[in-house]
Amino acid sequence: MVHPSSCLPSLLLVTLASFLLRSEASCRKGCDLALGAYYVSPQDNLTYISSLFNLEYVDLGPYNPEVTNLNSIGTGSRVHVFFRCDCIDGDFLGHNFSYVVLGGDSYEKISENVYANLTTAASLTQFNSYPMNNVPEGKTINVTVNCSCGDSSVSKNYGLFETYPLRPEDNLWSLAEAYGFSGREDLLQAYNPGINFSAGMGIAFIPTKDPSGGYRALSSSAGISSGAIAGISVAGVTILICTIYLYIYCQRRMKAKKDSLLSSTLEVSMYGPGMTAPREDGNSIFVGITVDKSVEFTYEELARATDDFSLAYKIGSGGFGIVYYAELRGEKAAIKKMDMQATNEFLAELKVLTNVHHLNLVRLIGYCTEVSLFLVYEFIDNGNLSEHLRGLGRDPLAWVTRVQVALDSARGLEYIHEHTVPVYIHRDIKSANILLDKKFRAKVADFGLAKLTEVGSSSQTRLVGTFGYMPPEYAQYGDISPKVDVYAFGVVLFELISAKDAIVKTGGSLTESKGLIALFEGALSKSDPKEDLKELVDPRLGQDYPIDSVLAMALLAKSCTRENPQLRPTMRQVVVTLMTLSSATEDWDMGTFYENQALTGLMSGR
Ligand SMILES: Nc1ncnc2c1ncn2[C@@H]1O[C@H](COP(=O)(O)OP(=O)(O)O)[C@@H](O)[C@H]1O
Ligand SMILES: *[C@@H]1O[C@H](CO)[C@@H](O)[C@H](O)[C@H]1NC(C)=O
Ligand SMILES: *[C@@H]1O[C@H](CO)[C@@H](O)[C@H](O)[C@H]1NC(C)=O
Ligand SMILES: *[C@@H]1O[C@H](CO)[C@@H](O)[C@H](O)[C@H]1NC(C)=O
Ligand SMILES: *[C@@H]1O[C@H](CO)[C@@H](O)[C@H](O)[C@H]1NC(C)=O
Ligand SMILES: *[C@@H]1O[C@H](CO)[C@@H](O)[C@H](O)[C@H]1NC(C)=O
Ligand SMILES: *[C@@H]1O[C@H](CO)[C@@H](O)[C@H](O)[C@H]1NC(C)=O
Ligand SMILES: [Mg+2]
Repeated sequence: MVHPSSCLPSLLLVTLASFLLRSEASCRKGCDLALGAYYVSPQDNLTYISSLFNLEYVDLGPYNPEVTNLNSIGTGSRVHVFFRCDCIDGDFLGHNFSYVVLGGDSYEKISENVYANLTTAASLTQFNSYPMNNVPEGKTINVTVNCSCGDSSVSKNYGLFETYPLRPEDNLWSLAEAYGFSGREDLLQAYNPGINFSAGMGIAFIPTKDPSGGYRALSSSAGISSGAIAGISVAGVTILICTIYLYIYCQRRMKAKKDSLLSSTLEVSMYGPGMTAPREDGNSIFVGITVDKSVEFTYEELARATDDFSLAYKIGSGGFGIVYYAELRGEKAAIKKMDMQATNEFLAELKVLTNVHHLNLVRLIGYCTEVSLFLVYEFIDNGNLSEHLRGLGRDPLAWVTRVQVALDSARGLEYIHEHTVPVYIHRDIKSANILLDKKFRAKVADFGLAKLTEVGSSSQTRLVGTFGYMPPEYAQYGDISPKVDVYAFGVVLFELISAKDAIVKTGGSLTESKGLIALFEGALSKSDPKEDLKELVDPRLGQDYPIDSVLAMALLAKSCTRENPQLRPTMRQVVVTLMTLSSATEDWDMGTFYENQALTGLMSGR
């Protein structure tokens, strides 16, 4: 870490230099918010639209108050998306989005259909090195959408603007009416000098309200044009940042001293001597060991936080019920509304579950038993693994990230298999139950739920699990052991390699399908499996993967999915193998992979 005292002079230099460089340019700074009007075409849905703008589906709710049901947005309506408005190259205001090119895409198609004319083919050509006639599939391109932060020479009352692609049916008056500026057409025109609102093309910037329902005034610093004042305030901010940084640094050191005894003993018990816990940085180091009281929420509190369980807050649905997003007591949460009532045994179990903490497990914050049964989990920002492997508009996960995801989830599973009291068997391991946080670290979701349904449902004991992930002994006889999870985990490893579903449709008809395991079996039974394996690797990885690492993971997956449960490794053994694989893969990332003996050892060992 850089010593804090060195931060002041260097930061000052950097800010001053960049200020001097930019003082000649046409924009100096952007603003934290701008909106975009996205015109909805027949094939669009919200999940898709939000993914284009790197947004979470639920975040759109507050910006689209007139949409009562976010799941059924009408064709021809507009969805308001939002983004930060940056000063790009000191030249103009806009935001860079990244987009993964699909087969059949061209700059024209991407601008006109995918981004609904919020950008233009000319802008795509300008900001990407690929030629117009050959935009390679699977590559990530820069999509630049222009924006505005206001103009003090027009009015200081408006600081939030929507980027609006003009359509043939629009004119100045219709737009003024739609945005509440009837009679103030001159204002709209003043913000868009030289724009013909009837031209049916081009972009207009329209002042708009924020989610609180009011207009934002122009932020004061955006209106100041004098260089000196700006320079002084930049220096002031720098000093402030340095002071805060120093303060936090000292606080941390004191806290670290206080906690170090506790954390070191816990780490040893969780990971065994010689292994260290997966650490995130700074504040979250101690997340794994805070022992929270289990929290009981009232129905009213949950209803208030989700606008009466409005669909605008829905983030998913699964075998147990609907999942909602909410902010509860200052923490982002996912509320699972279960299709069942709670029994007493069920409640006792819940209390135990809220006390299981591990960095690679999604934490159960609390629950509510009024009206229905609700489980409240910590919210994990980046969605589930399945979406990342197969969802639209997501950047492909790099191979090193996939190895890390495998290791993280293996650690979570190992923890519930071996270190909790009582010990848990997950029984529904699948890519949809592996969630990714902001830094793409993986956390296993829904553990303990299988046990809950067992005690919870009065009628028949239901076979919990998902087809494609169930081992034969469980599907046929209901035999349960930790090896059930090991098998399912093996299928997830095959998914990480291939990005294919656990059950792959082979023929055109629905009935012709093949498990992922069978698909890999062919390749892995060859004496030199690498060539066949390459055919199965996720095409979105391109050539950016070390085949030896892929082979090692495939062999591990194969042993996890053996028919005979006793021949499958334990999760502890899986973790050890993945740790070796992970460090070898990191070496590859640094260019020294081929000197790594660990991997050759891994592959010959099986
Ligand atoms: N804690 C959470 N944080 C963020 N998203 C979540 C959380 N829990 C569930 N989800 C989302 O909701 C979806 C549905 O969850 P769930 O009911 O467990 O069904 P399934 O696991 O079968 O997909 C998940 O796939 C995930 O995308
Ligand atoms: C959303 O749209 C995409 C692409 O248009 C499609 O592949 C996906 O299945 C749709 N999702 C839903 C939930 O309708
Ligand atoms: C974008 O503009 C083109 C050309 O004017 C038009 O054909 C297309 O329908 C527009 N796209 C959307 C989503 O409105
Ligand atoms: C964005 O603004 C820049 C600079 O004013 C301009 O050259 C470009 O054409 C604009 N892009 C779009 C998509 O309107
Ligand atoms: C966006 O991309 C352009 C073109 O590649 C680049 O010049 C610019 O610095 C980027 N802006 C931001 C804010 O990342
Ligand atoms: C996107 O913009 C970045 C940043 O300016 C640049 O380095 C990169 O080459 C651009 N991507 C393409 C495909 O041109
Ligand atoms: C604006 O565009 C419309 C449609 O192309 C055209 O009829 C009209 O004359 C234009 N107005 C001006 C002032 O250029
Ligand atoms: Mg789940």
